[in-house]
Amino acid sequence: MKFFIDTANLDQIREAKDLGVLDGVTTNPSLMAKEGITGKENIINHYKAICEIVKGDVSAEVIATDFEGMITEGQELARIDPHIVVKIPMIKDGVKALKFLSSKNIKTNCTLVFSAGQAILAAKAGATYVSPFIGRIDDVNWDGIDLIEQIVHIYGVYQYDTQVLAASIRNPMHIVRSAEVGADVATCPLSSILGLLKHPLTDIGLEKFLADHQKGNA
Ligand code: E4P
Repeated sequence: MKFFIDTANLDQIREAKDLGVLDGVTTNPSLMAKEGITGKENIINHYKAICEIVKGDVSAEVIATDFEGMITEGQELARIDPHIVVKIPMIKDGVKALKFLSSKNIKTNCTLVFSAGQAILAAKAGATYVSPFIGRIDDVNWDGIDLIEQIVHIYGVYQYDTQVLAASIRNPMHIVRSAEVGADVATCPLSSILGLLKHPLTDIGLEKFLADHQKGNA
């Protein structure tokens, strides 16, 4: 399973990259705004900066919601760097835009996916990635992992090329469960990636190994 980091924060992207397990980045308009990145030129420069750090797929979301606007913006974003993946919302014009952009060999990530039906549409439109939002589904008392499992199953039956990108991950167990049900990618906050490291028996075991080494070498 590939690991993407779900942030526009350059320090966090560098930290995840330094860990040696980072395959890509996803951003969205909220994450860009959180970093104070506003205005077309700053936004483009920020994507360039991310692409300089990570040599993997970097999702950049369109703001337009009409077909013409999305394909114009999508093609502009794709020109920034070969690693840019154009993120398109799961709406009617978005499906058309996915089809258009994939026919131009521009990589796409269909975002705001909350059902298997939406995921089927994204795959049929040729999306490179589909992003079901696990955490937001859990928030409304449904099971986000069940949806990932259902989409992985359907895509397997029909051999769709679209990769399942588990998004809206809130904790390390979301990553583990996504891996268990066969997600191709998990996009995670840095805290969830680092959370995978944690186990009290590792800390206790290491402390004992080092203490025994000290005794043996005293
Ligand atoms: C990623 O592509 C999504 O935009 C992101 O994972 C959404 O996460 P959130 O539900 O924590 O905002």
